[in-house]
Amino acid sequence: MSNDKLIIFDTTLRDGEQSPGASMTRDEKVRIAKALERMRVDVIEAGFPIASPGDFEAVQAVARAVSDSTVCGLARALDKDIDRAGEALRPAASARIHTFIATSPIHMRMKLRMTPEQVIEQAVHAVKRARTYTDDVEFSPEDAGRSEIDFLCRVIEAVIAAGATTVNIPDTVGYNLPHQFGELMRTLIERVPNSDKAVFSVHCHNDLGLAVGNSLSAVLNGARQVECTINGLGERAGNAALEEIVMTVRTRQDIFPCHTDLDTTQIVPCSRLVSGITGFAVQPNKAIVGINAFAHESGIHQDGVLKSRETYEIMRAQDVGWSANRIVLGKHSGRNAFRTRLQDLGVDFGSDEELNDAFARFKELADKKHEIFDEDLQSLVTESGLEAGNEWLKLIFLRVCSETGKTPNATVTLWVEGEEKQASATGSGPVDASFKAIEKLVNSKTELQLYSVNNITSGTDSQGEVTVRLQLDGRIVNGQGADTDIVIASAKAYVNALNKIIQREQRAHPQFGDV
Ligand code: KIV
Ligand code: ZN
Repeated sequence: MSNDKLIIFDTTLRDGEQSPGASMTRDEKVRIAKALERMRVDVIEAGFPIASPGDFEAVQAVARAVSDSTVCGLARALDKDIDRAGEALRPAASARIHTFIATSPIHMRMKLRMTPEQVIEQAVHAVKRARTYTDDVEFSPEDAGRSEIDFLCRVIEAVIAAGATTVNIPDTVGYNLPHQFGELMRTLIERVPNSDKAVFSVHCHNDLGLAVGNSLSAVLNGARQVECTINGLGERAGNAALEEIVMTVRTRQDIFPCHTDLDTTQIVPCSRLVSGITGFAVQPNKAIVGINAFAHESGIHQDGVLKSRETYEIMRAQDVGWSANRIVLGKHSGRNAFRTRLQDLGVDFGSDEELNDAFARFKELADKKHEIFDEDLQSLVTESGLEAGNEWLKLIFLRVCSETGKTPNATVTLWVEGEEKQASATGSGPVDASFKAIEKLVNSKTELQLYSVNNITSGTDSQGEVTVRLQLDGRIVNGQGADTDIVIASAKAYVNALNKIIQREQRAHPQFGDV
């Protein structure tokens, strides 16, 4: 059996970010991109540069930061999109432009209001224009899963002739079934006369829970690139989960005629990083990265695993990074070791002041918690998560009284644009009281959309990592906070989210911030 390379194309930063509430800052995207690069992902789709100046800057920043993976930018089949993507990708060591146009009857008629001939013409033009920026051009016939096969073959033949080096077949609305989608892939590869001149790729959405099944069926029928996201993040029900694709191919080498180059031990750390930054918790029973994925509860299973692991386990937990928690630093570690380890994790401090600030927080943490893991360091910087110098608010002090039978109350001191202010409030619980006290000082009028707590590592001395999602006038931000005290972690996360929303709001409406 041949053993081709299966290219892993990660779109967490683009399609993943399209999940409502999963928006990421530029620096957060760079950190995820560095983690993907460490995992040896082949292609990182970093964003959609025409979508907003923030998206453009993020793609550009990822292009600068990453050198081992190809960095890709998405563009509709429009000159302005392609030029913007080409511009954003200029600093990349290896750049790909991914251009797309819809090919299904419903999309062409209702959305594009274009004839099939016009669609082919625009697709060809787009690919040729993208080729003026890079030799690595990917084309997607959007909604291929509901397109007519004869027309799809014509479009694909034309774009390959125009210079597309990868042809991606998306099941945009997650409508296909595995046998059907595999058949589609096989037919396209067989019928398109120049199909040997391009890599065929697959991109499936999970509306019916079939994204991974459909992607793998496409691989068995000739696709040699899979587009996927960490934790299956993505539009609506999400995309195919990277960890499931990669581990299935690896575990079932008796079936798959291909392999990936990924360092699978990076899967769990990467999953945690993405869920921490986006606030999208991983369900406990999620394959590969769920906390229970390798836990055996029933006595029969435990007995079997103790006698021989293979009785109930088809993969080793450490192969996907479950035991990757390493004590990396401790109380006595110096500034240099701290900076170097964070550099390895993709975090570069913009200034000495930022470094000193983070180092001071690290020392504080090391006093409370003796073993500091990579995950602790990640959350230390996630918590600040702001483009330098833009912190409007800072938590200075928090006291919470919580007692059985009594209403909890909190007193909080915030640094608000250089001035210390204090307020107290009661609430239904200590977290509620703290948020109300903060809100008294800030009067942000934001709506709390999500509040979640996770432990970063194991043990009761572990830090609790809190994510708070706030909404204001349709804008959504996630704030993170970590501390060994979860009420303090919650207040930090709330302040972090407020800082981000104020930062955004300030760009749009300079009067905001009159707090
Ligand atoms: O789902 C989809 O069709 C897409 C394309 C842009 C590839 O995300
Ligand atoms: Zn998609």
